[in-house]
Amino acid sequence: MRLYAAATVALFLLLGGQAAGVELMDEEEAGNDQRAAPAEAESESESVAGTETTTEAQGVSEPPIKLVHVLNPGEREYLSPNLIGVQNIAMTFLPLSMNFINIIDAFREITSGVRYEILLNAVDTKDKENADTICRLVILEKPWLRTQWGDKHRELVTSNCTDSAENSVSSDPAERARLLNEKYFVRSKRGLNDVPLGGSKPFDAQQAEEQLQRTLDKLTAGEGPHYKIVKVYTASRQLVSGTLTRIDADLIDGNTDEQHRCIVEIWAKPWLEQGHDITFKCRNQKVVQARHSRSVEWAEKKTHKKHSHSHHALDKVDHLFHKFQIRFGRRYDNTAERQMRLRIFRQNLKTIEELNTNEMGSAKYGITEFADMTSTEYKERTGLWQRDEQKPTGGAPAVVPAYEGEFPKEFDWRQKNAVTPVKNQGSCGSCWAFSVTGNIEGLYAVKTGELKEFSEQELLDCDTTDSACNGGLMDNAYKAIKDIGGLEYEAEYPYEAKKQQCHFNRTLSHVQVSGFVDLPKGNETAMQEWLLTHGPISIGLNANAMQFYRGGVSHPWKALCSKKNLDHGVLIVGYGVSDYPNFHKTLPYWIVKNSWGPRWGEQGYYRVYRGDNTCGVSEMATSAVLA
Ligand SMILES: *[C@@H]1O[C@H](CO)[C@@H](O)[C@H](O)[C@H]1NC(C)=O
Ligand SMILES: *[C@@H]1O[C@H](CO)[C@@H](O)[C@H](O)[C@H]1NC(C)=O
Ligand SMILES: *[C@@H]1O[C@H](CO)[C@@H](O)[C@H](O)[C@H]1NC(C)=O
Repeated sequence: MRLYAAATVALFLLLGGQAAGVELMDEEEAGNDQRAAPAEAESESESVAGTETTTEAQGVSEPPIKLVHVLNPGEREYLSPNLIGVQNIAMTFLPLSMNFINIIDAFREITSGVRYEILLNAVDTKDKENADTICRLVILEKPWLRTQWGDKHRELVTSNCTDSAENSVSSDPAERARLLNEKYFVRSKRGLNDVPLGGSKPFDAQQAEEQLQRTLDKLTAGEGPHYKIVKVYTASRQLVSGTLTRIDADLIDGNTDEQHRCIVEIWAKPWLEQGHDITFKCRNQKVVQARHSRSVEWAEKKTHKKHSHSHHALDKVDHLFHKFQIRFGRRYDNTAERQMRLRIFRQNLKTIEELNTNEMGSAKYGITEFADMTSTEYKERTGLWQRDEQKPTGGAPAVVPAYEGEFPKEFDWRQKNAVTPVKNQGSCGSCWAFSVTGNIEGLYAVKTGELKEFSEQELLDCDTTDSACNGGLMDNAYKAIKDIGGLEYEAEYPYEAKKQQCHFNRTLSHVQVSGFVDLPKGNETAMQEWLLTHGPISIGLNANAMQFYRGGVSHPWKALCSKKNLDHGVLIVGYGVSDYPNFHKTLPYWIVKNSWGPRWGEQGYYRVYRGDNTCGVSEMATSAVLA
């Protein structure tokens, strides 16, 4: 709901004629705080969270992140390549045949809007050589416009990467850009034409009062908030994406029976039948936000009552699905496949809702790139084998001496230059290899002071006990590295996401392993201590909650994430605590490095609750011992 708040605030400021720099708040947030910022810069309309009525102080969420910098007109600002917002913007404007790899450089400045200049690496899937291409995109954001979907309106100014079909149409860059814009914005056309660029117009107070009454009735029928109208002074209307009605009125707050002078903003988006966002800004009171529409499930329930609404509920899932397809570049071979994926997607929306409803931490679950996969398909992307509990693991018990003094409240090996950038295992069940290289990279950095990336592909090819993309076990991999004779660098033995011939070259082996240790099961204090004194820890966990994880401290309900079913190998790189003093809630967490690329989770990381063996985090904690 924080982003929803950001959008409303931004709109409000725009009404006041403010500069556009503020609009980027959500994207700033996505990048400025590694730990606190979920990767959901574009997710306003994708969230299917359960609660829709919030006051700003209600419901556990991350503390607001300060906006560090408001951009002035003409000022050029360098943007971190890791900003999820920038990546999302760039990806929207790449030709469909190109896959985004990473941002090289990005800037923005205020011109007639916000002008982005982005240099990125991409790969053309139609190109047989599969070579990387550098693309330069210039994108203009017009923050005073919204697309039909309520997103910020952006358009491509120039791009030097276009697919062959686009190239064949015209060689003129401006013309190509125009064609690309048309392609990506056909859907938003209607919304745009409806939006005159003017400000707000006065609106009949009588009509406004009627609208407000209808709105209040609907809220009362839901979970509130409850207000009674005393008097409506004035009202105005503005066409944004949809209609924004602002009503100045005296209201009685049903909770306290106090009367306040309030500005009520009702943002109606007609294409979402019940999609009215309402903001109550009452003098000396906290801002209260509400929404008519409930979750998808709620909308579906309503369907059974009111038949006429059925197509709207369908529309919403369809719309989310369509958006998902665009965002993650999904194209299905035929209608049958699309229908099947849509069914899975619909089912997953329910799972997402279940996770959100039962969440005990602060995590949000939503649509991710795995949203059209069944859990079986998704599990193919993990790849951790079950340990045979009858057999000894082959590891020595870790010696965890008593720690001198108090543990630091938080600790993060990323800040000590012991963690390499987030990698991507792709569609290959090789998590075990990434978990192990991550551990060895950390130990190596602690030992030598040098941060190096080591090769997973070597393990895929040369570890004969494990099964490359069909899964493996970290225990086996440590032993294999010892037997093979060490690990080569990533660059010398690069990742290919499928098993190849082993071509290990002993002269290129840069790190050797003499064995490994098992940390005591179910003792997170011992893990904490070991992490502080040795380095990042390789763990197995249950990845159920990770399929739809969008950020926050994940503390799923035990029934939804059993510690018995470990299916994913990852790396603990640190820990911390999130405090929510207003709710008497403290959430200790582990910082977990995943191997699904930086677009997943919190820039590739997962924060999971620390202290009660959530999802089995302390069931299979191990580490290599360097020779
Ligand atoms: C696009 O422009 C950038 C920077 O000007 C350049 O490095 C790159 O090679 C260009 N790409 C193509 C495909 O022309
Ligand atoms: C192993 O690597 C070294 C150093 O790069 C190289 O000289 C040698 O030819 C390589 N051996 C094989 C068998 O490829
Ligand atoms: C957990 O490990 C710590 C450190 O090794 C130890 O002091 C403590 O007794 C252990 N706790 C349990 C319950 O085994």
